[in-house]
Amino acid sequence: MEIDLLHSHSVWCATAEPPVYPSLGADVKADVCVIGAGIAGLTSAYLLARQGMSVALIEALDIGSGETGRSSAHIAVPDVGYAHIEATHGRESARLVAESFSAAIDLIETIGQAEHIECEFRRVDGYLFSCSDDPHAVLQKELESATRAGVEVLLQARAPIRTITDSACLRFVRQGRFHPMKYLIGLANAITRRGGAIYCATRAFDVEERAGGVTVKTADGSVSATAAVVATNTPFNDRIAVHVKQSAYQTYIVAALVDRGSLPDVLIWDDDDPYHYVRLARGPDTTHDLLIVGGADHKTGQASNPQQHYRELEAWLRTHVPTAGALAYRWSGQVMQSLDGMAYLGRNPGSRNVYVVTGDSGTGITHATIGAMMICDLIMGRETRWLDLYDPARRPLREVLHFIKDQSNVVSQYIDWLSQGDEQSAAALAPGEGAVIRSGMKKLAVYRDDAGTLHCHSAKCSHLGCIVQWNAPEHSWDCPCHGSRFSAYGSVLHGPAVSGLAAAELGEMKAGARQSAGTQTRKRTGADPGGPRP
Ligand code: FES
Repeated sequence: MEIDLLHSHSVWCATAEPPVYPSLGADVKADVCVIGAGIAGLTSAYLLARQGMSVALIEALDIGSGETGRSSAHIAVPDVGYAHIEATHGRESARLVAESFSAAIDLIETIGQAEHIECEFRRVDGYLFSCSDDPHAVLQKELESATRAGVEVLLQARAPIRTITDSACLRFVRQGRFHPMKYLIGLANAITRRGGAIYCATRAFDVEERAGGVTVKTADGSVSATAAVVATNTPFNDRIAVHVKQSAYQTYIVAALVDRGSLPDVLIWDDDDPYHYVRLARGPDTTHDLLIVGGADHKTGQASNPQQHYRELEAWLRTHVPTAGALAYRWSGQVMQSLDGMAYLGRNPGSRNVYVVTGDSGTGITHATIGAMMICDLIMGRETRWLDLYDPARRPLREVLHFIKDQSNVVSQYIDWLSQGDEQSAAALAPGEGAVIRSGMKKLAVYRDDAGTLHCHSAKCSHLGCIVQWNAPEHSWDCPCHGSRFSAYGSVLHGPAVSGLAAAELGEMKAGARQSAGTQTRKRTGADPGGPRP
């Protein structure tokens, strides 16, 4: 198997084909309009349809084309760790987090069984090891907090893959892993079997709240409903409130062939900076599995050489699992890191009938499933014990330093408006390359396609105006401020932007090597990407 070193291909998208759904094409009514066909949107729609609600789900692209299909699909404990949650939110909150995570894994397993979804779901144990100066102290603290929270966890002398670490680790019992695209396809089928409607290639650009209901507007018609669920990884309906409380990180994943049965079927992760996460998946034939290794995170749109992150990750894989064979897939995804490491799930701040699922914080599969459960309960008028814990309007006071640091990073991205760039001409762009180019007072995002044609757009992000950066492996324009991503041709791939990069004229211009304001990495444990907490 030969890997395409120029492009990003997730194993999940390459090995499952979602059904094709029509675009909206008319004004429709439903009890609930769900926006986004990733795990958050499809689980919400499924749970609501199971309650007898009529559901219209709209998706800008295709089923799983957002971040779910780019996940590593670990279904495990919170990245941020129970010691951190206990310290910032208290023991009772840590207990509720453990309860919600356990309920999410149970729900995924139950839905898979009830709907006969062949998604390779399996209960596996998860292992955390520490790269800190005092790993024993870190693990002991996490063990005590997790145990107090009610988590089934053990301190173990050795990790199950000795070449990854030969030291002590924590073993979290009965976590999970699956094939996320196969699960989404099963959910979509179950929704339509219950009368729900799914519309793809339909981008929502506005959610208008009115007395007793909402209208979700698209270019292709609108959906009138009593409630809307915005499950688009990061909400497009809220321009600022949530976005100043979370940061977008690009995370990288490589998948290498290994002999089937040569490695145990477990989840492993560390607390390095940036951290690493490991799992197995079904291989392309009967004699191989895939060893999936992720990490090398950085703030979206703030890496000067994304290819280097793939190289670092592969080097880590080869060092820690020397028996691994050739790479079969590699891809990247985006993590929305909240201030306190817990997702924002529930009512959109200031709204009555609009709900959001965002701030996945590296455990998107689990957090999204918790969000779907909560939102279904809220819409059905039921109580949920997790409401305050995940409230999107919460202001975690103990994370104020992290907030200030993060906002400083965002503000510094606007300095790119003033940077000069180098003197390379746009004519120097090879086919398949893109660059941000200064033209007088403007910055242009210029891409040369494989046929040699130049495509020129304003480099100003359509959300709040930061300058986008070219991402060569993904062939995308990425915004360093709040994680919007655009295709090489300027269309929206990922919000919060709802409109593409503005078309621009290709005049006299110089190719500019963008001057990054510095790269931040994201730790597996601890929401703060670099500094001490108060
Ligand atoms: Fe907010 Fe680009 S995503 S300015």
